[in-house]
Amino acid sequence: MNESIEAIKTISMKVITTTGVTKVYNPDKVPVRALNGVDIRIEPGEFTAIVGPSGSGKTTLLNIIGGLDRPTEGDVDIGGEDIDAMSDNKLIDFRKRHIGFVFQAYNLIPVLTARENVEFVMLLQNRPRQERRERAEELLRAVGLEDKMDKRPSELSGGQQQRVAIARALAPKPDFILADEPTANLDSVSTANLLDIMARLNKEENITFVFSTHDQRVIDRARRVVTLVDGKVASDEVRG
Ligand SMILES: Nc1ncnc2c1ncn2[C@@H]1O[C@H](COP(=O)(O)OP(=O)(O)OP(=O)(O)O)[C@@H](O)[C@H]1O
Ligand SMILES: [Mg+2]
Repeated sequence: MNESIEAIKTISMKVITTTGVTKVYNPDKVPVRALNGVDIRIEPGEFTAIVGPSGSGKTTLLNIIGGLDRPTEGDVDIGGEDIDAMSDNKLIDFRKRHIGFVFQAYNLIPVLTARENVEFVMLLQNRPRQERRERAEELLRAVGLEDKMDKRPSELSGGQQQRVAIARALAPKPDFILADEPTANLDSVSTANLLDIMARLNKEENITFVFSTHDQRVIDRARRVVTLVDGKVASDEVRG
């Protein structure tokens, strides 16, 4: 991507809007209505938590917003593009360019070092070797892993692996990061560190963060809290 396109991307305002999003799993057997008419609008630069009881639809909603799964009914629009109208290939490409995912199971590649795991996603984008290396190192430093770059996942703690996953999600310069329970397996020190990193990237790089969580420490740091109950938005609280 050249500099001018990059600059346009930086100032482009990608709003996410879901309209009447409904998800029914197993429609032909025993249907489960995981989402039931969700309308939400997420503005660029938000730092938003999605909360709610187990089974309320948080993971399903993140998957649908991120184009990993498609709604049964309703629309998802990201920056003016209707992502459900995209073919599978176009959607995969769109995800690669705009969305970073951080899952509970970090899905790091075990035979690669932390640095190689971060570089790998940029290899998939055909970025030049030098650029891959520099950005991987910059991101691993940003998440406080400057002394762990050459360790494999099995040599890292859960919190350190989670930070590698964040660095990897950021490598393609996404517009937003979707994280499903990012602190679920972390101790309180790692949780605090991770929240600091996320808040800093949100502020400095204007990356939009949307994360599902049960963790009160995370909820306390969110600037907006959307509560799902039975697949519907039960409350939506923006803090001052
Ligand atoms: N692949 C699937 N097939 C069938 N039902 C599913 C599937 N995934 C989720 N569900 C059901 O959809 C509902 C919403 O699930 P979801 O995983 O979105 O909830 P959640 O809010 O993320 O819960 P948790 O807090 O436990 O992670 C639940 O009733 C769940 O059992
Ligand atoms: Mg979940």
